[in-house]
Amino acid sequence: MPWVDEYDHIVESELDIFSRYNDTLQAVSEIACLSPGLTVLDIGAGTGNLSFRCLARGASVVGLDPSEKMLAKARAKAKIAHLKRKEREDAGSEPEAYQPTVEFRLSENPFLEIPHPDSTFDAVVSTYAFHHIPHPQQPEGICEMVRVLRPGGVWAMGEVSFKDAAAELEAKRACPWLDEDEYYPHIDSLRSVFNQFNMVLQARQFTPVSWVLWALKPIDNGKTGA
Ligand SMILES: C[S@@+](CC[C@H](N)C(=O)[O-])C[C@H]1O[C@@H](n2cnc3c(N)ncnc32)[C@H](O)[C@@H]1O
Repeated sequence: MPWVDEYDHIVESELDIFSRYNDTLQAVSEIACLSPGLTVLDIGAGTGNLSFRCLARGASVVGLDPSEKMLAKARAKAKIAHLKRKEREDAGSEPEAYQPTVEFRLSENPFLEIPHPDSTFDAVVSTYAFHHIPHPQQPEGICEMVRVLRPGGVWAMGEVSFKDAAAELEAKRACPWLDEDEYYPHIDSLRSVFNQFNMVLQARQFTPVSWVLWALKPIDNGKTGA
């Protein structure tokens, strides 16, 4: 990404596609990390902002991204978080009984080829990254994320997205800053992919162009972990 150095300032401005960025990340982390001690995969982790929200909720997180430059920013933040925790312990604070971890790994194609076995994670999350996957490959990306999710686990995503192609077209008329080169997901299409796994896609609109989406993987034969 050409704007790596400015990325965190851009998202903090909460303008245009990043309107309600912080609320979106918070909602995804709350849906995915209901209790401490979970293992979470963050795909397209970038500078780690969503991963750190999950970490703060007691999850151990693996963040995958194809950009070494974005990951370098994320790793620098992880180092600072680690040093701060050490400082608190050196100053006499009781070490936490369970210390969640965060790790950022380079992955060439992390939605379509997740380098982890089946049923590895309690939650799979992502924000503002799935639109890099062309529409015809998005079903494959959903299947791959469901594959690494353990039965009863949660999938959650915050993304610029639209109900369908018509809604996207209409939004593009009103919002000329929407990018013509991105593959913003269509919620109705994703819903039919999740249906194949007996997963019910939930959707909450956050801005005129962005939604938080989530679904539970059934424990078996259509029974959900809810
Ligand atoms: C807009 S940033 C979002 C970063 C972070 N998730 C956040 O919410 O701030 C998009 C990220 O997607 C990554 N990316 C680009 N192509 C990708 C792909 N094919 N699969 C997964 N991630 C990709 C970029 O490197 C970048 O870090």
